[in-house]
Formats: sequence, C-alpha cells, structure tokens
Amino acid sequence: PASVAPHTVKDMPPVITRILNNSPFYHRHILSSKQFDRQELHTLFSVAHEMRTQVERNGSIDLLRGKVMCSMFYEPSTRTSCSFSAAMMRLGGTVVNVDGSSSSVVKGETLADTVRTLGCYGDLTVLRHPDPGSATTAAKFSKVPIINAGDGIGEHPTQAFLDVYTIREELGTVNGLTITLLGDLKNGRTVHSLVKLLAYYHVTLNFVSPISLRMPEEVKTELTSAGIAFNEYTDLNEVIGDSDVVYVTRVQKERFTDLSEYERVKSAYVINNKMMSKAKTQMVVMHPLPRVSEIEPEVDFDQRAAYFRQMRYGLYVRMALLALVLGKSF
Ligand code: CP
Repeated sequence: PASVAPHTVKDMPPVITRILNNSPFYHRHILSSKQFDRQELHTLFSVAHEMRTQVERNGSIDLLRGKVMCSMFYEPSTRTSCSFSAAMMRLGGTVVNVDGSSSSVVKGETLADTVRTLGCYGDLTVLRHPDPGSATTAAKFSKVPIINAGDGIGEHPTQAFLDVYTIREELGTVNGLTITLLGDLKNGRTVHSLVKLLAYYHVTLNFVSPISLRMPEEVKTELTSAGIAFNEYTDLNEVIGDSDVVYVTRVQKERFTDLSEYERVKSAYVINNKMMSKAKTQMVVMHPLPRVSEIEPEVDFDQRAAYFRQMRYGLYVRMALLALVLGKSF
C-alpha cells in the first residue's frame, strides 16, 4: 500500500506558521509562569489550539523531526513526564527519559553536571527536581533550554499554562470569573504558578485552606503589588455557590516533616456530589492531579468535572510550547 506522507508545517494555517517563525519563546528557558506576558500567553494558546486541530485530524504533525528532548525527573510524575514525551513524539521528535534513581545521580553527580551532560545529547531538557529554585540553577549550567517541570514547592509553569488554557476552553473566557483555589495552597506549586498568570485577568480570587496550609506570604505580596485582590477562607461552603472554577489540590504528604500534622489536615476538604449540589450549574472543577481523597470518584460523572479533560489540554499546550521553544524556520 502507498505510504501516507507525514503531515508537516505546510498543513498548518499560515498565521500559525508566522507565529512559530517569530516565536517569543524561541530558545528561552521556561522557569516561572511570570516570565511571560499576557500577549505571549495568548500566542501559546493560539498554537495550542492548532495543535489540537492537528492531533484530532491527523494524530501528529512533523514539526520537530530530528530534534531530541531529554526528560530528567528527580521526583515521580505521570502527567508531566508522559505528556511532554507524547507531545514531542506527536511533533515527530524523539525523547531520552532519565530519572534520579537509575542515573549517575545515585553516584553523587551534581545537578550542574547532569544538565551539562543532557545538553550534550538533546536540544532541550525538561527537568523536575525537589528543590525550589533548582530549575533556575540548572539554566545557569545548561546550553540548551530548560523547562521547569516542577521545582519542589516552587513553581510548575507549564501546569499553569495548561490550567489557564483549560479555563478558556471550558468557560470561554477568564475575565469576570470567580476562581476558588482549594486545599494545600502552601505546598502546591501549581497554584503558586497559576495565580501569577491569573493576575493578568480581571478575576475574583478565593483561597480556601486550613490555616496551616495558606498561600505563602511572598505569593500574596506579589499579588497585592500587582493590584490583585483575594480573600482567604477556611470553609468552602462560604464560596462554593459563587465559584466559576473550583481548583482542587492534594495535600502534599511528601512535603510534611511532621506526619501527624499531615494526618490532621489531609481530609480537610472533600468534593462529593453533596458539595457539588451547592455549586453553579455552569462551573468547572479542576485538579492538577494526582488526587488522593479530595475528590470522590462519584464526581467524575458530573459534566462539571473538568480534571480529565484538563490532562488532554496539557498535551496540546506542551506540544505548542515545544514547537515554540525549539522551532525556527519551518
Ligand atoms: N500535574 C502533575 O504535575 O502531575 P504529575 O505529578 O503526575 O506530573
């Protein structure tokens, strides 16, 4: 049978090719969500939208043939690791996967030497590491772009990109929404990155958490400096009925030094059908996942549960990001 020619940039609308050829992300490290302004964010979303079209139509688009992505994870991951790998492969590129337990990290190799090494083999390094600031440190030693895939309790910028994209896709806009962030706001890096992007929009922000897991002061100070108002609560019942988005987070057991404190707060909030009966009919529940017990499985069948769709949006956003960081003259 005749082979099918791979789909290439000629299959993309010229407006998207122009964006890719003038990429504001080209060869930049992606370390923090606040590196990029609202216009750059919307450039990313335009390309992500086209990636969705291409994947739904053809499964793949050969933009990065010949490029290699190194993926180095010092901490466990399912979504970030797999979606970056799948994104690279759907763009025609290839992937080298490494982890902290089977690499020379166990022999004592430093982060600096590890990223120097990966930069000899790949065109870009996706890095997850337990220490806040580690991605910024890695960028100083890497001759290829570093993408921060989560640095401890610091940031997770690509999760924030896909979270805002999810809100736009699900609700049509971000402006004017009431967005409630729930759970472990102290240790949840995804919410630290997300609020920095939400600061570009006109939103009402509610932070709901146990007192001991409140949003860090430095994040709140940044929001206040940017003129963004927020309210803090301990009881979800106070805000569930007004929320357009409830963004649920897992209590991060791995960040606790005192496990009795974890046991005390781990079940502070549970989203179940009873709680959902108090929410608007048009709203979404999001979660970066993995979840433990904070959303009961019965909620999965509610159309307002957007967390599985959120994972799929992540594939398109990461495809867009890889093409924008690595591509040039298509
Ligand atoms: N959302 C997220 O970062 O999930 P993983 O830890 O599975 O990558």
